[in-house]
Amino acid sequence: MKKIINNNRLLLYTGIVVLMVFFTVSCSGPEKGLKDIFSGYFYIGTAVNPFQLYEKDTLAKPFIAKHFNSITNENCLKWERVHPSPGVYNFAPADSMVAFGQRNNMFIVGHCLVWHSQTPKWVFEDSLGNPLTRDALLERMKDHIFTVVGRYKGKIGGWDVVNEAVGDDGRMRKSNWSEIIGDDFVQKAFEFAREADPGAELYYNDYNIELPGKREGAVTLLRNLMDNGVKIDGVGIQGHWHLESPALQVIDTSIKIFTDMGLKVLITELDVNVIPEPMGLIGAEISQNFEYQKLLNPYPESLPDSVQQKLAGRYTDLFNTFIKYKEGVGRVTFWGVHDGYSWKNNWPIRGRTTYPLLFDRNYQPKPAYNAVINTVKK
Ligand code: GLA
Repeated sequence: MKKIINNNRLLLYTGIVVLMVFFTVSCSGPEKGLKDIFSGYFYIGTAVNPFQLYEKDTLAKPFIAKHFNSITNENCLKWERVHPSPGVYNFAPADSMVAFGQRNNMFIVGHCLVWHSQTPKWVFEDSLGNPLTRDALLERMKDHIFTVVGRYKGKIGGWDVVNEAVGDDGRMRKSNWSEIIGDDFVQKAFEFAREADPGAELYYNDYNIELPGKREGAVTLLRNLMDNGVKIDGVGIQGHWHLESPALQVIDTSIKIFTDMGLKVLITELDVNVIPEPMGLIGAEISQNFEYQKLLNPYPESLPDSVQQKLAGRYTDLFNTFIKYKEGVGRVTFWGVHDGYSWKNNWPIRGRTTYPLLFDRNYQPKPAYNAVINTVKK
């Protein structure tokens, strides 16, 4: 009798264990990435580079595919890379980025078609080294846009058509483009891009356009374009920000101003720097100067917990603001996959160690990552 009771108990316990295992396996599914947590809000993107895509960093691709549903090339579609000399195009890196994005159902962003920087000198000169005429430069711009956008028609979903055309004073920036063509180079670039791929979203992208002053310049530029019948889909606020600046209210107001204009807002190059950025020292080499090292490279080994917490708090505020405008914010793209990939390690001073992103150099989530995911109401 006792034996029968024991056997029944054993059966019952075994049943319970089997059921528990079944529920655990069927309910958990694969672990969520950032992009899944923000589905229904906006795309979560990252800038990618060939080091990750050619698999030298073997951890990169699965990690990017897990957390991000949008990618932007960090460099390989900039003019100097994709079209380094007359008639010579180097599409291999962009081809592999696009293939990777397509394989993973990502929204792929091309950056950028017309910019004053990272554009070779020859673009503005004839074969004798004389400045091009307006018509000749327009022809060259059109040819470039048609070739690059045309190649990825239907694959690249959005283009930063013009990057940084507004100067820090809020007026149109003086550049080879504006000097030779005139300020309507912006309009022409959008028209060529629209013609090259009518289905792609087209953006104007710039830094500090959330700051009053420069913002007014950008608003004037965009309004004039729209009044002239140019169809622009969105404005990219780069978002190279700091722990304390710009003030949250400034970012909030700017997102509202741009979305009220009927433009989609994209946060295109987000990072939050935690070390000083002395602009007077661009390109400086500080490794031999001990005093400078301590002052300008304060965390060479690791980020103190107090600063991790500040960074997390800043990201909480930023994402709460993006979520507040989720109807108008289409994408938030981080400028780098993890801290080790950030350009801020080498700008404005080379060879420092900074921590502006959500993941550390070992692909581990930082407190800022948890802060960001906690902004989504479960
Ligand atoms: C600007 C450009 C980016 C990149 C960063 C620095 O924001 O738009 O492409 O060059 O500077 O890496």
